[in-house]
Amino acid sequence: MDRNPPQVPVEVIASALLKLYGLDGALTELDSERDQNTRVVTDEGSYLFKVCNADEDPEVIDLQIKALRHIAARDEHLPVPRALPTLSGEDTGLIHDQEGTPYIVRLMSFVAGDTIRSHPELDTPALRRSSGEMLARLDLALRGFFHPAADQEHPWTMTQVPKLLEYTHSISDNVARRNVEMIIAKVRDEVLPRTAHMRHQVVHQDAHTGNLVIDPSRPTDIAGIIDFGDMVYAPLIMDLAVATDLTGRPSLSPEGMFDVAVGYDSVLPLEEAEVDVLVDLILGRMAMTATIVAARNALWPLVPAYHDHEVQLWSQIETLLASAPDMRIGLRRATRFPMPIDGTLDTAKLRADRERVMGEKSPHFYKETLHLERGKGVWLYGSNGDKYLDFYNNVPTVGHAHPHVVNAVSRQLAALNTHTRYLYNNSVEYADRLTSTLGDHLDVCLFVNSGSEANDVAWQISQVVTGNAGLLVMHNAYHGITQAGIDMTTAKGLDRATHVEEIPAPDDYRRGVTKAEVATRDANAAVERLAARGMKPAAFIVDSAMCSSGIPDVPDDFLPAVARAVQVAGGLIIADEVQSGFGRLGAMWGHELLGMRPDIVTLGKPVGNGHPLGVVITSRAILDEFQAQVRLFSTFGGNPVSCAAGLAVLDVIEREDLVENSQAMGRYLQEQLWKLAETQPLIGDVRGRGLLAGLELVTDRTTKEPATATTLKLLEVMRENGALVGKDGEHAHILKLRPPLVTTATDIDLFIGMLDRSLTTVSS
Ligand SMILES: Cc1ncc(COP(=O)(O)O)c(C=O)c1O
Repeated sequence: MDRNPPQVPVEVIASALLKLYGLDGALTELDSERDQNTRVVTDEGSYLFKVCNADEDPEVIDLQIKALRHIAARDEHLPVPRALPTLSGEDTGLIHDQEGTPYIVRLMSFVAGDTIRSHPELDTPALRRSSGEMLARLDLALRGFFHPAADQEHPWTMTQVPKLLEYTHSISDNVARRNVEMIIAKVRDEVLPRTAHMRHQVVHQDAHTGNLVIDPSRPTDIAGIIDFGDMVYAPLIMDLAVATDLTGRPSLSPEGMFDVAVGYDSVLPLEEAEVDVLVDLILGRMAMTATIVAARNALWPLVPAYHDHEVQLWSQIETLLASAPDMRIGLRRATRFPMPIDGTLDTAKLRADRERVMGEKSPHFYKETLHLERGKGVWLYGSNGDKYLDFYNNVPTVGHAHPHVVNAVSRQLAALNTHTRYLYNNSVEYADRLTSTLGDHLDVCLFVNSGSEANDVAWQISQVVTGNAGLLVMHNAYHGITQAGIDMTTAKGLDRATHVEEIPAPDDYRRGVTKAEVATRDANAAVERLAARGMKPAAFIVDSAMCSSGIPDVPDDFLPAVARAVQVAGGLIIADEVQSGFGRLGAMWGHELLGMRPDIVTLGKPVGNGHPLGVVITSRAILDEFQAQVRLFSTFGGNPVSCAAGLAVLDVIEREDLVENSQAMGRYLQEQLWKLAETQPLIGDVRGRGLLAGLELVTDRTTKEPATATTLKLLEVMRENGALVGKDGEHAHILKLRPPLVTTATDIDLFIGMLDRSLTTVSS
């Protein structure tokens, strides 16, 4: 609590300056908390001469000098003081006052300007952002610096806050004292244990408005940072907390703090955990100021208060405390971190807002829309912290937020994001890598943004290349939302487009195994129906997983038979691998399992693990023929960020043996589902391959009546029990399971338990 700055007479200072530094100039005494600071102006320049506090550890003085040298070497133009040597090249000198007390002295260049504190009218959002940017630059420049004295127990260090509880009794106002004690207790019990795990380095720790310098003629930029006397090794976020402190900013609303954080984040990105403790650290810093000021005033009642805004500070603390929960959310918004999953969000309001801005009929699952804010691996997390095993998943197949995909996307986004009319490495690398996983004849890629677009383009190619106009699809197919996709989609009860004909899907549960002759006959019949309308097939498109057709077990010779009939009639074969691709069925591509040799393959959903990306893959000959007639370009298709996502997905599939895992875990899942069927009569049939499973739910195993209503209820009960699943099929009674490919046997066991309980609930 003792400030006790030296009071060396000006004559002693003047003679020391001449002797030690050869400087003879105009001297001005400056205010300082612990040292005696004098500004020296000569013809050559302006300097700060520091007589260090007699109690200052020489090692701490050395820390400051070495830190300034380190900063100057790392960021030459950063406007901070430069440590200057004596004439004989020493870092410091020694002087004595009249009583013979020795003081260490040192010289620095003077950072000119006014402090923000002296110009509250210039404390604008732009200036605050600039403060954050400058502090972040300083922290970057200090990265890698260490000095043993940085490990000091500095009184202004946040880690010392708990010790201040001994002094809070000096705060004369009861409400203010209780607030301060509550803040300190929270910092001690909750915040410091969390910061212990965060990024640490030597930090300035004093970048408040009195140490941030501006040039009033350029009022939106910080002109310098001064006063390196409080440097310590501490959690990095503490530096920002000091700079964001409201003390000395009487007219600033708490939201104004975000500007500093946003500026800082733009130069040195904050981590999520850091953002979450920032408001408490700011409160901690303000509580610290309130306590130290009160204690000093109590110790030296005759000394004018160093901080004469005590009452104002109490009221600022009260305001910030009341708005702290909103501030934490606001800070996440300002730095674009996702919302927290600690139950602080108002889900009912969000739901109402969604209807207002996205329409009342905007589709959603479940009676009560599921409010999710986070995902990791096989888990999804609700805004209230509830977790759900994601067995609905058919997009982030390598697991939610897979770190490799996250890194790849972020790194590419930070470097370049443009389009395929320019040449860049990763689109070519990706096309090469992707085609190498497919049959030799599938050797060129067209990039788009979704499964629907991929199918739309595949359809355009088919028409152009064959000159035909007809299309064959499976019964109850789904292929997308563009007009071409809607025409291909027979699952939604829409009127059939006149150029489209359906082929019945296999259904061995109800009709027995479909023989190849039957498949051929059905395909030929569809071709003939087209011919009756004067059309030949341009293509046959099939979802290799046949999801919307009920995930049937497809006999090995079924699709080759259909494909042959279509090819004979002059059509191309399109394998829609949007559902089945990338290992879902226990092989890299579904059409391989089904014995098809497609002319075109379309990809979507899992291709970017959630990043929007669609791909059309075909042969060079087909593409050349198409491009000779049509110029096709997609603005976002194949942009560098999408390709980075695509490449990272392939990396993970390879590195983590996910195709093999899909096969092995798929087998295990089927075994467990069949076992469950022994005790759960609702399960009429279990089908699927790899990590795609379909459970046909029936009200009666003899009549095989689809249990449509019960399936819907089951989805709700499963959600309550902590698992997310889907439904599909013509009668919406096929329970569709598509866990991420990283699913383990433990996850499956957990899931089977949840399914068992839920089936019992809906059956009773
Ligand atoms: C087989 C199949 N093809 C195409 C699509 C359309 O993909 P997207 O929603 O990315 O447009 C879907 C989507 O569910 C699908 O299941």
